[in-house]
Amino acid sequence: MRRLFARALVRPLVLAAAATAIPLVSATPASADSVVVGGFPVEVSDSPWTVALSSRDRFGGTRAGQFCGGVAVGRTTVLTAAHCLGEQVLGSPPEEVRDLSVIAGRTDLLSEQGHEVAVRDVWVNPAHDDVSNSGDFAVLSLAEALPAGSVIGMAAEGDPAYSPETGALVYGWGDTSGAGDYANGLRAARVRVLPDARCKRAYPGSDDGRYLAGTMLCAGEDVGGRDACQGDSGGPLVARGRLIGLVSWGSGCGRPGSPGVYTRVSAVLRALGWDDTAARQRGGV
Ligand code: ARG
Repeated sequence: MRRLFARALVRPLVLAAAATAIPLVSATPASADSVVVGGFPVEVSDSPWTVALSSRDRFGGTRAGQFCGGVAVGRTTVLTAAHCLGEQVLGSPPEEVRDLSVIAGRTDLLSEQGHEVAVRDVWVNPAHDDVSNSGDFAVLSLAEALPAGSVIGMAAEGDPAYSPETGALVYGWGDTSGAGDYANGLRAARVRVLPDARCKRAYPGSDDGRYLAGTMLCAGEDVGGRDACQGDSGGPLVARGRLIGLVSWGSGCGRPGSPGVYTRVSAVLRALGWDDTAARQRGGV
Protein backbone atom coordinates (compact mmCIF):
# COMPACT_ATOMS: atom_id res chain seq x y z
CA MET A 1 0.00 0.00 0.00
CA ARG A 2 1.36 3.37 -0.93
CA ARG A 3 1.94 6.30 1.31
CA LEU A 4 -1.01 8.52 0.54
CA PHE A 5 -3.46 5.73 0.73
CA ALA A 6 -1.90 4.62 3.91
CA ARG A 7 -2.40 8.12 5.18
CA ALA A 8 -5.98 8.23 4.06
CA LEU A 9 -6.42 5.11 6.14
CA VAL A 10 -4.40 6.14 9.10
CA ARG A 11 -5.92 9.55 9.63
CA PRO A 12 -9.50 8.44 10.18
CA LEU A 13 -8.23 5.70 12.43
CA VAL A 14 -6.23 8.29 14.30
CA LEU A 15 -9.45 10.23 14.71
CA ALA A 16 -11.13 7.19 16.13
CA ALA A 17 -8.13 6.74 18.37
CA ALA A 18 -8.34 10.36 19.47
CA ALA A 19 -11.86 9.68 20.61
CA THR A 20 -10.45 7.12 22.98
CA ALA A 21 -7.72 9.52 24.10
CA ILE A 22 -4.79 7.76 22.46
CA PRO A 23 -2.08 10.38 21.87
CA LEU A 24 -1.93 11.55 18.30
CA VAL A 25 1.42 11.27 16.56
CA SER A 26 1.82 12.50 13.03
CA ALA A 27 4.62 11.78 10.58
CA THR A 28 3.76 14.90 8.59
CA PRO A 29 5.42 18.11 9.72
CA ALA A 30 2.98 20.81 10.74
CA SER A 31 4.64 23.22 8.35
CA ALA A 32 1.97 23.49 5.69
CA ASP A 33 0.27 26.73 6.67
CA SER A 34 -2.00 26.01 4.44
CA VAL A 35 -8.61 23.91 3.82
CA VAL A 36 -8.48 22.31 3.53
CA VAL A 37 -5.11 24.15 4.15
CA GLY A 38 -5.13 27.90 3.50
CA GLY A 39 -8.88 28.03 3.51
CA PHE A 40 -11.65 29.95 5.18
CA PRO A 41 -14.88 28.94 6.89
CA VAL A 42 -17.99 28.72 4.73
CA GLU A 43 -21.66 27.94 5.31
CA VAL A 44 -22.92 24.78 3.69
CA SER A 45 -25.99 26.74 2.55
CA ASP A 46 -23.64 28.46 0.08
CA SER A 47 -22.53 25.11 -1.35
CA PRO A 48 -25.41 22.78 -0.43
CA TRP A 49 -24.11 20.08 -2.76
CA THR A 50 -21.09 19.57 -0.52
CA VAL A 51 -21.77 16.56 1.68
CA ALA A 52 -19.82 14.61 4.27
CA LEU A 53 -19.44 10.84 4.12
CA SER A 54 -19.99 9.31 7.52
CA SER A 55 -19.73 6.09 9.46
CA ARG A 56 -19.70 6.41 13.24
CA ASP A 57 -19.22 2.69 13.36
CA ARG A 58 -15.86 2.93 11.58
CA PHE A 59 -14.65 6.41 12.48
CA GLY A 60 -16.19 7.22 15.84
CA GLY A 61 -18.86 9.74 16.69
CA THR A 62 -16.74 12.76 17.62
CA ARG A 63 -17.12 14.48 14.26
CA ALA A 64 -20.35 12.71 13.26
CA GLY A 65 -18.28 9.92 11.72
CA GLN A 66 -17.00 12.13 8.87
CA PHE A 67 -14.20 10.51 6.88
CA CYS A 68 -14.44 11.89 3.33
CA GLY A 69 -16.29 14.44 1.26
CA GLY A 70 -18.81 13.96 -1.49
CA VAL A 71 -20.87 16.02 -3.89
CA ALA A 72 -24.54 15.76 -4.79
CA VAL A 73 -25.00 15.65 -8.56
CA GLY A 74 -28.56 14.39 -8.34
CA ARG A 75 -31.04 14.42 -5.47
CA THR A 76 -30.25 10.77 -4.75
CA THR A 77 -26.83 10.64 -6.42
CA VAL A 78 -23.55 11.54 -4.75
CA LEU A 79 -20.10 11.38 -6.31
CA THR A 80 -17.09 10.68 -4.14
CA ALA A 81 -13.60 9.24 -4.49
CA ALA A 82 -13.18 5.50 -5.09
CA HIS A 83 -10.35 5.36 -2.57
CA CYS A 84 -12.73 6.60 0.16
CA LEU A 85 -14.57 3.31 -0.17
CA GLY A 86 -11.51 1.09 -0.36
CA GLU A 87 -10.79 -1.51 2.28
CA GLN A 88 -7.69 0.43 3.30
CA VAL A 89 -9.94 3.25 4.45
CA LEU A 90 -13.06 1.43 5.61
CA GLY A 91 -11.42 -1.71 6.90
CA SER A 92 -13.93 -3.82 4.99
CA PRO A 93 -15.90 -3.75 1.75
CA PRO A 94 -18.36 -0.84 1.74
CA GLU A 95 -21.37 -3.21 1.79
CA GLU A 96 -20.31 -4.25 5.25
CA VAL A 97 -20.41 -0.72 6.60
CA ARG A 98 -23.99 -0.76 7.84
CA ASP A 99 -24.20 2.89 8.89
CA LEU A 100 -22.63 4.43 5.77
CA SER A 101 -24.42 7.72 5.25
CA VAL A 102 -24.19 11.14 3.74
CA ILE A 103 -24.58 14.26 5.85
CA ALA A 104 -26.11 17.19 3.99
CA GLY A 105 -26.84 20.71 5.14
CA ARG A 106 -24.55 20.58 8.18
CA THR A 107 -21.81 23.21 8.28
CA ASP A 108 -20.60 22.25 11.73
CA LEU A 109 -20.15 18.53 12.22
CA LEU A 110 -20.70 18.97 15.94
CA SER A 111 -24.20 20.34 15.34
CA GLU A 112 -27.47 18.62 14.55
CA GLN A 113 -28.02 20.84 11.52
CA GLY A 114 -29.21 19.38 8.20
CA HIS A 115 -29.82 15.70 7.85
CA GLU A 116 -28.20 12.35 7.48
CA VAL A 117 -29.30 10.13 4.63
CA ALA A 118 -28.46 6.47 4.42
CA VAL A 119 -26.50 5.21 1.45
CA ARG A 120 -28.58 2.59 -0.33
CA ASP A 121 -26.09 1.50 -2.93
CA VAL A 122 -22.38 1.95 -3.60
CA TRP A 123 -20.78 1.71 -7.04
CA VAL A 124 -17.02 1.95 -7.08
CA ASN A 125 -15.37 2.55 -10.44
CA PRO A 126 -13.93 -0.86 -11.36
CA ALA A 127 -11.28 0.92 -13.46
CA HIS A 128 -9.87 2.75 -10.42
CA ASP A 129 -6.14 2.14 -10.47
CA ASP A 130 -4.52 2.55 -7.10
CA VAL A 131 -1.02 2.68 -8.55
CA SER A 132 -1.53 5.85 -10.62
CA ASN A 133 -4.73 6.84 -8.69
CA SER A 134 -6.54 7.11 -12.02
CA GLY A 135 -10.32 6.75 -12.13
CA ASP A 136 -10.74 7.76 -8.50
CA PHE A 137 -14.52 8.06 -8.30
CA ALA A 138 -17.54 6.21 -6.97
CA VAL A 139 -21.28 6.77 -7.12
CA LEU A 140 -23.49 6.56 -4.04
CA SER A 141 -27.24 6.13 -4.33
CA LEU A 142 -29.15 7.60 -1.42
CA ALA A 143 -32.12 6.06 0.34
CA GLU A 144 -33.95 9.42 0.33
CA ALA A 145 -33.81 12.46 -1.92
CA LEU A 146 -31.87 15.52 -0.80
CA PRO A 147 -33.75 18.81 -0.82
CA ALA A 148 -34.30 20.42 -4.20
CA GLY A 149 -31.52 22.90 -4.85
CA SER A 150 -28.79 20.84 -3.24
CA VAL A 151 -27.42 19.62 -6.54
CA ILE A 152 -24.58 20.99 -8.68
CA GLY A 153 -24.15 20.69 -12.44
CA MET A 154 -21.10 18.96 -13.82
CA ALA A 155 -18.82 20.63 -16.36
CA ALA A 156 -18.76 18.68 -19.60
CA GLU A 157 -15.63 18.13 -21.64
CA GLY A 158 -14.47 21.33 -23.32
CA ASP A 159 -16.11 23.56 -20.71
CA PRO A 160 -13.94 26.65 -20.18
CA ALA A 161 -14.08 25.92 -16.45
CA TYR A 162 -11.29 23.38 -17.08
CA SER A 163 -8.95 25.98 -18.61
CA PRO A 164 -5.70 26.66 -16.78
CA GLU A 165 -5.78 29.78 -14.58
CA THR A 166 -9.52 29.44 -13.95
CA GLY A 167 -10.26 30.26 -10.32
CA ALA A 168 -11.84 27.41 -8.37
CA LEU A 169 -12.95 26.58 -4.85
CA VAL A 170 -12.37 23.31 -3.07
CA TYR A 171 -14.55 22.39 -0.08
CA GLY A 172 -14.13 20.03 2.82
CA TRP A 173 -13.97 19.15 6.49
CA GLY A 174 -10.46 17.76 6.19
CA ASP A 175 -7.11 18.47 7.76
CA THR A 176 -6.38 22.21 7.97
CA SER A 177 -2.65 21.95 8.64
CA GLY A 178 -1.32 18.73 7.17
CA ALA A 179 -0.77 17.55 10.72
CA GLY A 180 -4.10 15.97 11.51
CA ASP A 181 -6.06 19.06 12.57
CA TYR A 182 -9.46 18.08 11.29
CA ALA A 183 -12.01 20.84 10.91
CA ASN A 184 -15.41 20.68 12.58
CA GLY A 185 -16.75 23.36 10.28
CA LEU A 186 -16.86 23.26 6.49
CA ARG A 187 -14.04 25.19 4.85
CA ALA A 188 -13.14 26.23 1.34
CA ALA A 189 -9.86 27.19 -0.31
CA ARG A 190 -9.34 29.29 -3.38
CA VAL A 191 -7.13 27.56 -5.92
CA ARG A 192 -6.51 27.78 -9.65
CA VAL A 193 -6.72 25.17 -12.36
CA LEU A 194 -3.09 24.57 -13.31
CA PRO A 195 -1.70 23.38 -16.64
CA ASP A 196 -1.40 19.59 -16.87
CA ALA A 197 2.33 20.06 -17.41
CA ARG A 198 2.64 21.31 -13.83
CA CYS A 199 1.29 18.10 -12.37
CA LYS A 200 3.09 15.90 -14.89
CA ARG A 201 6.32 17.45 -13.69
CA ALA A 202 5.37 17.12 -10.04
CA TYR A 203 4.06 13.58 -10.37
CA PRO A 204 5.86 11.70 -13.15
CA GLY A 205 5.23 8.47 -11.28
CA SER A 206 6.19 7.60 -7.73
CA ASP A 207 4.73 5.89 -4.71
CA ASP A 208 2.25 8.74 -4.48
CA GLY A 209 0.76 8.17 -7.92
CA ARG A 210 1.18 9.32 -11.49
CA TYR A 211 -0.52 12.30 -13.08
CA LEU A 212 -2.61 11.28 -16.09
CA ALA A 213 -4.18 14.29 -17.79
CA GLY A 214 -7.01 12.31 -19.36
CA THR A 215 -8.58 11.42 -16.04
CA MET A 216 -7.05 13.87 -13.58
CA LEU A 217 -7.08 17.61 -13.07
CA CYS A 218 -4.31 19.69 -11.56
CA ALA A 219 -5.14 22.60 -9.24
CA GLY A 220 -3.52 24.65 -6.53
CA GLU A 221 -1.21 27.62 -6.30
CA ASP A 222 2.37 27.77 -7.55
CA VAL A 223 3.54 28.98 -4.20
CA GLY A 224 1.55 26.33 -2.38
CA GLY A 225 -0.36 27.24 0.75
CA ARG A 226 -3.87 26.61 -0.49
CA ASP A 227 -4.91 23.04 -1.10
CA ALA A 228 -7.17 20.18 -0.15
CA CYS A 229 -5.82 17.74 2.42
CA GLN A 230 -6.55 14.41 4.11
CA GLY A 231 -10.23 14.02 4.88
CA ASP A 232 -11.28 16.23 1.97
CA SER A 233 -11.15 13.39 -0.56
CA GLY A 234 -14.22 12.93 -2.68
CA GLY A 235 -15.26 16.53 -2.10
CA PRO A 236 -15.96 19.11 -4.80
CA LEU A 237 -13.71 21.39 -6.82
CA VAL A 238 -15.96 24.01 -8.37
CA ALA A 239 -15.26 26.59 -11.08
CA ARG A 240 -17.71 28.93 -12.80
CA GLY A 241 -20.46 27.38 -10.71
CA ARG A 242 -19.87 23.91 -12.08
CA LEU A 243 -18.25 20.79 -10.71
CA ILE A 244 -14.88 20.14 -12.36
CA GLY A 245 -13.07 17.89 -9.89
CA LEU A 246 -13.21 15.57 -6.90
CA VAL A 247 -10.46 15.76 -4.31
CA SER A 248 -8.22 12.77 -4.98
CA TRP A 249 -4.55 12.97 -4.03
CA GLY A 250 -1.34 14.97 -3.74
CA SER A 251 1.99 14.87 -2.04
CA GLY A 252 1.55 16.48 1.34
CA CYS A 253 -0.83 19.42 1.46
CA GLY A 254 -0.21 22.90 0.12
CA ARG A 255 3.46 22.32 -0.60
CA PRO A 256 5.00 24.52 -3.27
CA GLY A 257 5.54 22.47 -6.42
CA SER A 258 3.12 19.73 -5.30
CA PRO A 259 -0.34 20.77 -6.51
CA GLY A 260 -3.55 19.00 -5.63
CA VAL A 261 -4.69 16.29 -8.01
CA TYR A 262 -8.41 15.92 -8.65
CA THR A 263 -10.53 13.37 -10.49
CA ARG A 264 -11.49 15.09 -13.74
CA VAL A 265 -15.29 15.28 -13.81
CA SER A 266 -15.50 15.26 -17.62
CA ALA A 267 -13.78 11.86 -17.50
CA VAL A 268 -16.33 10.69 -14.94
CA LEU A 269 -19.14 11.74 -17.27
CA ARG A 270 -17.52 9.86 -20.12
CA ALA A 271 -16.87 6.74 -18.05
CA LEU A 272 -20.44 6.66 -16.76
CA GLY A 273 -21.93 7.34 -20.14
CA TRP A 274 -23.70 10.41 -18.75
CA ASP A 275 -23.82 12.64 -21.79
CA ASP A 276 -24.07 16.41 -21.67
CA THR A 277 -27.81 16.42 -21.61
CA ALA A 278 -28.00 13.90 -18.84
CA ALA A 279 -25.39 15.90 -16.95
CA ARG A 280 -27.44 19.03 -17.26
CA GLN A 281 -30.59 17.26 -16.18
CA ARG A 282 -28.88 15.79 -13.16
CA GLY A 283 -27.46 19.21 -12.45
CA GLY A 284 -30.89 20.75 -12.73
CA VAL A 285 -33.03 21.30 -9.71
N1 ARG B 1 -6.20 11.35 -0.26
C1 ARG B 1 -6.69 12.40 0.57
C2 ARG B 1 -7.94 11.95 1.32
O1 ARG B 1 -8.18 10.76 1.40
C3 ARG B 1 -6.85 13.69 -0.17
C4 ARG B 1 -5.55 14.28 -0.43
C5 ARG B 1 -5.61 15.52 -1.22
N2 ARG B 1 -4.33 16.09 -1.12
C6 ARG B 1 -3.97 17.22 -1.66
N3 ARG B 1 -2.78 17.66 -1.39
N4 ARG B 1 -4.78 17.92 -2.43
O2 ARG B 1 -8.63 12.72 1.95
